[in-house]
Amino acid sequence: MDTIGNNIRLTLFGASHAPEVGFVLTGVPAGTRLDMDAIRFDLERRSAKNHAFATPRHEADDFTVHSGIQGGVTDGLPIRVTFPNRAHDRSEYKPVARPSHADLCAFLRSGGREDISGGGKYSGRMTLPLTFAGSICRGILRTRGIEIASHVSFMGGVHDADLDPMMEKAPKLDPFFPLVDPSVRDEMERLLEKARAEGDTLACGAECAVTGLPTGLGEPLFDGLEGVLSKYLFMIPGLRAVEFGNILAFGSEMNDQFTDGGRTLTNNSGGVNGGMANGMPLIFRCKFRPVPSIAKPQTGYDLIGEKPVPLIIAGRHDTCILPRGLAAVEAAAALALLDLLLENDARREGSGLDGLRRGLDRVDAELMRLFAERTELSKRIGEEKRISGRAIEDAAREKEVIATRTAHLPRTLTAAGEGLMRLLMDESKRTQRAGMNLYLIGMPDCGKTRTGRKLKALLRLPLADTDKLIMERTGLSIDEIFARLGEGAFREMETTALRSIIAHGGLIVATGGGLPVSGDNAALMKNSGFTVFLDRRLEALHGQDTVNRPLLSADSRAETDARIDRLYAERHEKYAACADLMLDPDADGAAERIAQAYMRFIETGDRL
Ligand SMILES: Cc1cc2nc3c(=O)[nH]c(=O)nc-3n(C[C@H](O)[C@H](O)[C@H](O)COP(=O)(O)O)c2cc1C
Repeated sequence: MDTIGNNIRLTLFGASHAPEVGFVLTGVPAGTRLDMDAIRFDLERRSAKNHAFATPRHEADDFTVHSGIQGGVTDGLPIRVTFPNRAHDRSEYKPVARPSHADLCAFLRSGGREDISGGGKYSGRMTLPLTFAGSICRGILRTRGIEIASHVSFMGGVHDADLDPMMEKAPKLDPFFPLVDPSVRDEMERLLEKARAEGDTLACGAECAVTGLPTGLGEPLFDGLEGVLSKYLFMIPGLRAVEFGNILAFGSEMNDQFTDGGRTLTNNSGGVNGGMANGMPLIFRCKFRPVPSIAKPQTGYDLIGEKPVPLIIAGRHDTCILPRGLAAVEAAAALALLDLLLENDARREGSGLDGLRRGLDRVDAELMRLFAERTELSKRIGEEKRISGRAIEDAAREKEVIATRTAHLPRTLTAAGEGLMRLLMDESKRTQRAGMNLYLIGMPDCGKTRTGRKLKALLRLPLADTDKLIMERTGLSIDEIFARLGEGAFREMETTALRSIIAHGGLIVATGGGLPVSGDNAALMKNSGFTVFLDRRLEALHGQDTVNRPLLSADSRAETDARIDRLYAERHEKYAACADLMLDPDADGAAERIAQAYMRFIETGDRL
């Protein structure tokens, strides 16, 4: 899933070496003033250029806000921001999976289709949009008195002092290399220097504190504070463990005894009990693996040759995920906490008419989002069906869908649930039919191109022509293909052209006269479109030009006409058999009738 959140929904997109990375954030209330300087500062904290032992890949991290923010204030539209990838260099990357990277898993999972160069979407680069989106949330949390702070708790074997778990306010630390005890920095940097000089990398840890959380924040049982927070945090590449508070050997040592106002004398629980904030500072620690790209000789896996191969990683890499990764840790925490906070607000406001209506508004918004997601999935299913030649209608599956979807509804809702599912499935089928082609078939010179052009204007759909497609692909005329390669080769090309037209979908298609005569082609057309036989009168077909119509070319006009007669006799029945609609294209309003029939088919599925 590239999307997370119930109230504040975040979608990340792009990849390390794609043209861009970016995010869409929904749910931020309209009219929220954003501190753009604070957001830029968080991006700076994450940027490699501000860290001595970070990757020499220096991106400007400049961004474009496409929607949702105007003059630094949110307008209620989804916030969409992109960051171009400028400093990537694909030449460095080979189809060899690097040890302990996501390469092999992503390659196999996507059947080799995913672009995994530079780590693809599993790269640290994805923490850039995360940081921006998290910084927006952090600003909102700040207005509610919630502060987040973090520091490098260890690097290799060098440890910083712990944060004060009893803190009233989050401490102010050096934003670029935060440490509770800055005196350990030299030792950490010496270790970083040594690791870099040896072509190695370092494990590290972060400790994070959040103050000001309302007591009770968290949605037990499955959306408790620790679970939700961890889910966001584990998006950060390289993260291996998240830990809350301290675990001491005995309950008598560990238990936090109460004092005035429900506060406790110690904070071993790390601010959370039963998945809910307990009013004390939330304290959690993240452990990161050493960056997997090391400069020492290793054994990779050749994804094409499918065998282990010696590997030297040349690219540009961080020696350690921290300190720059702290910006991502804080961002992930801010996103998780704001999402939970809004859930908390809704629950508390849930009483009274206004509160209940707000609840309904949220459910409806979620229903609409799910409806859009369902429609998108249906569209993709439609494409699969079209390409694999399967019919859109599947009565058995529809029955099963209705039965399984309504099985857990209370009895009083079953009938309404079934009605709702039927409506949804009708819409799915309509969406799937919208990708169906409109095939025009018939004898040579029956007016497929002429009628196709009129339909193009009426339906505003692109017009494709199988003969033209073949000529473009081969660089040969139809006459030349017949003369040099023979009719058999041409028929194969027709089927290939038809398959690519089917994969595209939503086209008006002028087909070559012989194409639908093949039973296989007719079957492909049946499940991928609506077919119209332009049944032009035989006399009107006489006397036609024979260029690129090799089956008709003869020494005399009389002989050509005789061939047309024979072809007409042979094919008329076959054309009629695979047509949903048959009409004379020379009749008044023929194109309009076709357009109407096709539109009706898309809307209702009715073939005439
Ligand atoms: C801010 C940041 C920077 C990173 N830089 C690098 C890097 O330069 N080279 C590298 O190999 N991994 C880097 N990583 C870690 C890898 O992306 C990560 O370890 C890898 O994708 C495997 O995923 P996993 O460790 O989560 O299993 C970085 C991670 C973060 C959060």
